[in-house]
Formats: sequence, C-alpha cells, structure tokens
Amino acid sequence: MKQIDVCLTPDLLHLHTIENTIVVVADVFRATSCMVTAFAYGVKSIIPVATVDECRQWQERGFLAAAERNARKVEGFELDNSPFTYMDEQIRGADVAMTTTNGTLAITRSRGAVKVLVGSFLNLDAIARYLKTEPYDVMVLCAGWKGRVNMEDTLFAGALIDRLKESYAMAEDSVIMAWRLYGQGKDNLPSYLSNSSHIRRLQRLGIQKDITYCLQHDLYDVVPVLRGNALVSMEV
Ligand code: MLT
Repeated sequence: MKQIDVCLTPDLLHLHTIENTIVVVADVFRATSCMVTAFAYGVKSIIPVATVDECRQWQERGFLAAAERNARKVEGFELDNSPFTYMDEQIRGADVAMTTTNGTLAITRSRGAVKVLVGSFLNLDAIARYLKTEPYDVMVLCAGWKGRVNMEDTLFAGALIDRLKESYAMAEDSVIMAWRLYGQGKDNLPSYLSNSSHIRRLQRLGIQKDITYCLQHDLYDVVPVLRGNALVSMEV
C-alpha cells in the first residue's frame, strides 16, 4: 500500500527521504492558495524563488515579479501574494516570478522529489484525485512560519489525509496528528483557527478577506506542478 507522510516544517525535511515520493507543498496563508488562484485565473507559469534578490533578477529579465516578506509586499515589485491580486484579466497568460517568506522556500527545498505539487484547500479535491492515480508515496510539506509549525498548513495536511485515508497507510505520528487536528476543526475552520499566529499577523495588517477566502474547499480544479524551475498547471 502507498504511504502518506507529513513534514510539519521545512526545518524537519532533513529527516525525510523524498526521492521516491510526490511532495505536496502547502502554505495555506497565503502563498500556495495564491498560486492555485493565479493558475485558475490563467497565469501561464510561476517561478518560485527563495530570495528577493533572485526574484529581482527575473524581474530584470522582463518577468512580472511578486515579492512578499512578513506578509507585506516588498517595495519595487509589481505583485504581492494575495490571491485577489491575480483575479485580473491583465495577468492572463503571464509568466510570474515569485518569492514569499515561507511558501516559495518550501517549494525550492522540495526539488529532488518525484514531483512537487502545490496544495491548498482551494484545490484539495483536485490534488487528492490526482494523487490516487499515481503509484508513489506522498508527503505533505507544511511551509510553516520561519521554521516553526503552524496550524493552517497542518490542517491542510489533515484534510488531504482525510481524502486519501482509504488508499494510503499513515507513515508516522505527524500524519495521525494532522488528521486528528482536521477532525477537530473541519466543521468551522475560521473559528478553529481564530487565535492562530498567522491569522493574528494578517489581521494586524488589516488582511481579513484573504483568510476567509483561503479556507474555502474545492473551488478550483487546478494542480500546479514544478517542471524544471517553473510551476505550471497540469491537466487532470
Ligand atoms: C508565506 O509564504 O510565508 C506567506 O505567503 C506569507 C503571507 O501570508 O503573506
């Protein structure tokens, strides 16, 4: 039977082997929700990069560029990482370079996996359906916050486990923890998460509508996959 595993933060990634595994990176608030939305609204590709300097280099080559640090847009870049920024006709067909505090870093650290997918509640069903067709083990990599564990990415891991539990064996306790957490919170995620660190951080910056938006399930039939150095939307 295939196995599903959860890495609760990129700082624990060295404990896992990912060579024969599909990694699903989750940064629910907001990087991966933003990427899924961007593809749903017609962005052609997203190059995830770890640093602001790399992102600037892509910008200098003519790419539209998105940069966020500490939940704020970095000065000098066209785009940020709010999903609402990408609901715009003008970026249909665009190639975007993106750096975020945790999400793009987690994606770049996942290179070496069989495939790297981008997951969020918004494309949960599409990801689950796709994984069921693949013969490989799965690991959810929670982007967390600067090496720390967070609730929202762990809840996403739990939600995916919940959808896959008939077809996958649970690899270790982090899987059981994530699944049980989702079981506790699933009936009202906004309320369950209300006192969590990144929600408080976003609320201090007046960012409320992104929170509600990112917690919606199954809005888009989009599965972003890393091909070379760029994410593209896979037909499923
Ligand atoms: C991240 O990658 O850490 C997030 O997207 C931060 C944010 O919500 O802006």
